[in-house]
Formats: sequence, structure tokens, C-alpha cells
Amino acid sequence: MAYALKMLISGKQGAGKGTQAAKLADHYGVAHVSTGDMFRAAVKAQTPLGQTAKGFMDRGELVPDDVVIGVVVEFLTNHGDDGFILDGFPRTAAQAEALEEAVGEDGLDLLLDLDVPTDIVVARIAGRRVCSECGATYHVDSPPNVQWVCDVCGGAVVQRDDDTEDAVATRLQAYQEQTKPLLDFYAERDLLVQIDGDGDVDEVFARAVAAIDGARAGS
Ligand code: AP5
Ligand code: MG
Ligand code: ZN
Repeated sequence: MAYALKMLISGKQGAGKGTQAAKLADHYGVAHVSTGDMFRAAVKAQTPLGQTAKGFMDRGELVPDDVVIGVVVEFLTNHGDDGFILDGFPRTAAQAEALEEAVGEDGLDLLLDLDVPTDIVVARIAGRRVCSECGATYHVDSPPNVQWVCDVCGGAVVQRDDDTEDAVATRLQAYQEQTKPLLDFYAERDLLVQIDGDGDVDEVFARAVAAIDGARAGS
């Protein structure tokens, strides 16, 4: 059996990380691990983690590194060997370093970065709707079969609390200042693969699969 895929997916808020990671996880038979989804589930369940994360998320700020790193390292320790697509992590230099320590220098196949212009991500976020139970992602232009009931689990499909104009502006600024510089960190390690994330979901998926298969064949 081929060894399990271990990769990161990155891009601006609204670039389509969650949309593509869910399809790719299915295609490659590995876990889709979204730190944003984990935090939203914790908020909904009113756990201590959720209570810590909620204020930061609603303002569009990053959750403190020690909190995020703890959650991800725990996941990797228990399930990392089975393969994963990490969506929305790492977002800071400290997170990237903690990840390298957890998986080792040869522990990742690639970072797939979805390149999408800012005006397009802003329009995508404005129309986004998500399942409040399972996190499945929709858009006003591609709604579930029954409005607004999740196709996957039957949960209520709603707008995210942090998809407000102010929070989106804060999130995009955090991306420029703290997350975008990580592309250099992964380029130096020869792990960065960028694709054009503009185009419809299936077109971007086809580009992503070609890029991942190419990177694995070359490594
Ligand atoms: P998170 O949930 O990760 O949010 P984000 O980074 O803001 O990214 P999004 O989920 O907004 O965008 P996406 O790229 O997944 O786009 P999507 O596929 O939904 O994080 C939320 C918060 O949690 C953070 O702000 C922070 O507070 C905290 N957090 C999380 N991780 C953290 C970390 N590591 N450190 C610190 N704090 C952390 O697509 C968007 C929309 O576009 C959807 O409606 C979709 O249907 C549509 N769409 C997707 N692709 C296409 C396409 N090709 N064509 C047309 N429409 C499309
Ligand atoms: Mg997402
Ligand atoms: Zn659902």
C-alpha cells in the first residue's frame, strides 16, 4: 500500500481551503483536519477550548499559538501516521516550527497554496453558508438541495459568526502579516506548490490532484 498523504493546504480566507480539503481527503482517503472547524465545534459544545477561542474568532483574530499548537499536536500524536490534510494550520512562524518538530523534517509531502485574488475571496465569503452541525460548506450560488438543510447531515445551514465585514478585514490582515510569510519557510524546504485557485470547484480540484500527484512522484 502506498504511504498515506501528509500535506498542508493554505490560502487567504475564502480561497477554498475547506472546500478543496474535504474533496481531497475523500480522494486520498486521509483525514481533513481544519483548526477552524475544530474550534467551531468546541464553541458549539461550549467546552473550555471553545470558550477560549470564541472571542478571538468572532473578532477575526488568531487564537493564541499555545492553544492551537496543543490541539494539533494532540491530533498528530494520536492519528498522524494515518495521513492528513491540515487546513488552516500553521498560520504563524511559531506554529510552523512546532509542526516541524512534531512531524520531523521529512514528515510532510507538500504545502498546497491556493492563489486567489482578494476581490474574489471577499465575494466568496459574503455568500458562504456552513452547516452548523458538520461544517459542510455551501454558497448562496451553490446551496444544499433543500434550503437551508445540510445535504450531508440534515443540520441547519447558516452564516458563520466571523463572516462579517469587520472580522473579514481583520482576518485578511492577519493573513498578510503572519501567514503569507510562511510560504518562504516552505519554499526553502522545497515543499511549496502553488496553484491558481480561481475557477470553478471541479477545475481547481483537478489542478490540486495533478499538483499533489506530481509532488509525490517527484519526492
Ligand atoms: P478558518 O475556519 O480556517 O477560516 P479562514 O482561514 O478564515 O478560512 P475560511 O474558512 O474563511 O476559507 P476557506 O479557504 O476554507 O474557504 P471555503 O472553502 O470555506 O479559521 C477561522 C478562525 O479560527 C480564524 O480566524 C482564527 O480565529 C481561528 N483559527 C483557525 N486556525 C487557526 C490557527 N492555525 N491559528 C490561530 N487561529 C486559528 O470557501 C469560501 C466560500 O467560497 C464557500 O462559500 C465556498 O462554497 C465558495 N467556494 C470555494 N471554492 C470555490 C470556487 N472554486 N468557486 C466558487 N466558489 C467557491
Ligand atoms: Mg475553511
Ligand atoms: Zn451537515
